[in-house]
Amino acid sequence: MPVNNRVFSGIQPSGDLHLGNYLGAIRRFVPLQQTHECIYCVVDMHAITVWQDPDELRRATREVAAAFIAAGIDPKAHIVFNQSQVMQHAELAWVFNCVARIGWMNRMTQFKDKAGKNSENVSLGLLAYPSLMAADILLYKAGSVPVGDDQKQHLELTRDIAQKFNNDYAASIAANGLDPEYFPITEPLIAGPATRIMSLRDGTKKMSKSDPSDASRISLLDTADAIAKKIRRATTDPEPLPDNEADLKGRPEADNLVGIYAALSDRSKAEVLTEYAGAGWGTFKPALADLAVAVLEPISTRMRDLLDEPDTIDAHLRDGAERARTIAEKTMFEVRDIVGFIR
Ligand code: AMP
Ligand code: TRP
Repeated sequence: MPVNNRVFSGIQPSGDLHLGNYLGAIRRFVPLQQTHECIYCVVDMHAITVWQDPDELRRATREVAAAFIAAGIDPKAHIVFNQSQVMQHAELAWVFNCVARIGWMNRMTQFKDKAGKNSENVSLGLLAYPSLMAADILLYKAGSVPVGDDQKQHLELTRDIAQKFNNDYAASIAANGLDPEYFPITEPLIAGPATRIMSLRDGTKKMSKSDPSDASRISLLDTADAIAKKIRRATTDPEPLPDNEADLKGRPEADNLVGIYAALSDRSKAEVLTEYAGAGWGTFKPALADLAVAVLEPISTRMRDLLDEPDTIDAHLRDGAERARTIAEKTMFEVRDIVGFIR
């Protein structure tokens, strides 16, 4: 059971948004607005853990904000903002840097993947990345966090940091008359057929912003033609589609395309296979391309319209940041007392 009704999630403005970001995250953010108080953040401070050109960072920040709004997130009823406008994120991240252990950070697979053999030469921020992510979530004491499967380990670390803070400072939390579970133990929301969308060129690799091959991913700003072409050329095996999910085992490319179809049509993979059992790629790929274009084209059209008016996007971000700051400052006010900072 989630501890409360608040949802927080973040997306980095580092490169073009792709279908994995949309299906694994943004699309799932939308219905949560009916039942939860939602805070969706463009995490620009996370993005600079690897080098970002400043103009490109501004562009990508607006692109993520535009994608949120174009996908159906209401920036007035909920909160959409960019992280760097709420300085409390950096402040709480510092406290968490002093709670978390270096060994915890060294174990993160995303860090190991991004650092590769170069771990002495990457930024210190890249190592501390999960501590800032924990601060994002816990500043708002969010109960649930919708993300793709690749963020599971980071969310476990967030829970560990919350627990250790609550333990280390238990006496002070009590002395300040606060709830002993001061920071909640957050629930990840990782579910559905699209928690891990794979590359269109290689079904064993995650679809990612950093893949050098543009054909490996569908970008949210791709044209209808580009989307259809990428799907037609996606790597597949020669077999027709099976009639059940178990038979997708060992067929990563087929599994991926069926998963994409399922997520885009809000159905399960089993339902999609019932419809397409025995179909060859010559049937399935055009159907998938049509579906992808039908879902993505209205979103990319809205995104382009929004991006034509950067001042309007910036105004939404400032307004969201102001409301986020009010919540964040209330937490930091208490945290300063808990830690022993004179204010
Ligand atoms: P990032 O682009 O790393 O900031 O990721 C933003 C969100 O998209 C996170 O919730 C990720 O888990 C999700 N995500 C990124 N890549 C994929 C993918 N290939 N499949 C599913 N979700 C993804
Ligand atoms: N680390 C996440 C990613 O790369 C982005 C992120 C930053 C995030 N802070 C967050 C996601 C807080 C959820 C909650 O995808």
